[in-house]
Amino acid sequence: MTDSSKKQEKQEDRRKFIVTSTIGASAACALFPFASGIPSVLDPATRDKGNSEVPWTKIAKLSSLPEDGTPTKFEVILAKVRDAWTTYTDIPAGAVYLARKGEEVVAFNLKCPHLGCAIDYRKNSNDYFCPCHNSTFALDGAVTTENSPSPRGMDTMDTKVENGEVWIRFQQFVPNIKEKVPV
Ligand code: FES
Repeated sequence: MTDSSKKQEKQEDRRKFIVTSTIGASAACALFPFASGIPSVLDPATRDKGNSEVPWTKIAKLSSLPEDGTPTKFEVILAKVRDAWTTYTDIPAGAVYLARKGEEVVAFNLKCPHLGCAIDYRKNSNDYFCPCHNSTFALDGAVTTENSPSPRGMDTMDTKVENGEVWIRFQQFVPNIKEKVPV
């Protein structure tokens, strides 16, 4: 084999490798969307749905929430999420604060409406605080500072109490705009 035909063969091998790798990566993304960093495919809140179509997720027992309305943080685990190929179960989707109001419950997304940092509940001042750019919120979720970095109050979600269990329609919302718009 001449030098030039050897060189041609090497180039051909390299081309085959690139094509195979690209196809492999695409297939992996299609089969394992978690690995591809595309959780939006699985997040029910990111699908184009009306609010009433967002599934209910059970979060906690009503009796586990303080009766004085102190907020409690809970992780949201979606029982079942479907994409085009697969049904996934027990998918962590985010977190919420639940606060009791008598027999009713209010739910706030833990994500700051400004740029999505995790909001803290401050026991000492009995309010919410986002440490990223110092947005503060009252217990009802309203913005409490003038010129707040957050353009709106904390994002609420539908809640219901059934047989002593608290359920929510978990949703994410478009950050850094005044209106509360599901993504
Ligand atoms: S992300 Fe919360 S104040 Fe900026």
